Order: sequence, then C-alpha cells, then structure tokens
Amino acid sequence: MTKLTIYPGSFDPVTEGHFDIIKRAVKLFDRLVVVVLVNPGKKPVFSVQERVGFIKRITAGMDNVEVESFEGLLADYVKIRGASAVVKGLRAMSDFESEFQMALTNKQLNPDMETLFLNTSGEYMFLSSSMVKQVASFGGDISRFIPEEIRDDIVKRLRKVG
Ligand code: PNS
Repeated sequence: MTKLTIYPGSFDPVTEGHFDIIKRAVKLFDRLVVVVLVNPGKKPVFSVQERVGFIKRITAGMDNVEVESFEGLLADYVKIRGASAVVKGLRAMSDFESEFQMALTNKQLNPDMETLFLNTSGEYMFLSSSMVKQVASFGGDISRFIPEEIRDDIVKRLRKVG
C-alpha cells in the first residue's frame, strides 16, 4: 500500500528552507502532498493560488509530489486524504513549543494522525518567509533564500508590496 504524507504550511512564499524539506521528504515517503493552509495567526502577502503556483513550479520534476490548498483544519484534511503522517520542518528550539502544541492538538482531533519532524538543514536554520518578505521589501538581496525558478516573480511581487 502506498503511504501518503502531508507537508502543510502557509508557504508565504515557499523558501529554500521549505524546498529542502520537500526534497528530503520525497526520498523518505512514497507520496508527498504539499498543502497550503490558512494560518490564522498570519496575514498573507501572496494569494493561496500564487502560493500553490510557486510550489507547483519548483516541484514540477518530482513525480511523487502533489500540491494543493485546503481551507480548514489540518486534522480534517489528513483524514479526507487518507494520509498516514504529516511532516514538518523544525528549525531552532524556538519552533519547538508551538509545533509540539499543534502536533498534540492535531492528535486529539485525529488520533490516527502522526506528526514527524525533519530538522532543517544547517544553512536554513535562520530562514523564514517573514524574513524574506522583510528583506525584499527594503530592496535587499533574497536570491539565496528563494528557489531560482520562482525568484524573479517573487522579487517583483514583493517590490510592489514594499
Ligand atoms: O507555515 P506555518 O504558518 O508554520 O504553518 C502553520 C499551519 C498552516 C500548518 C497551521 O496554522 C495549520 O495547521 N492551519 C490549519 C488550521 C488548523 O488545523 N489549525 C489547528 C492547528 S493546531
């Protein structure tokens, strides 16, 4: 039986740090679904369609990756998709508390759901979508932080916002 794993996030926008998790996760799991969800604690800059589009472009060559969006609870999405696990990237200890809290809440909502954490690669420990947006809005160079295929479009869009 093929096992489906979900990689959820707000991906506003997807960074090299996220892409690194995707590339490592596809080697570990049969099929990976990257899903753009609503994080009620964040006000996104990019529309859901734009975020899905960016992730689709960078994963175009990966046969076992699917990208979509969902409006609702991650625990429900996992149930609907019949997935066995959720994978998340963990940067520093600062991520740990909120990620642990989410994982435990999700487990209450859907007891069949497992949350697995992949440590972020060393070079992306500091990287976040918010930091990328801030640097770009002040005209800084974000080329090392965003996958090449989508870099120009993201820079253009963030210039407009800034
Ligand atoms: O990339 P982020 O912003 O850290 O991802 C957080 C996200 C979108 C995965 C989280 O906010 C989420 O699961 N949102 C969907 C709504 C939900 O299930 N909330 C309860 C989580 S305990």
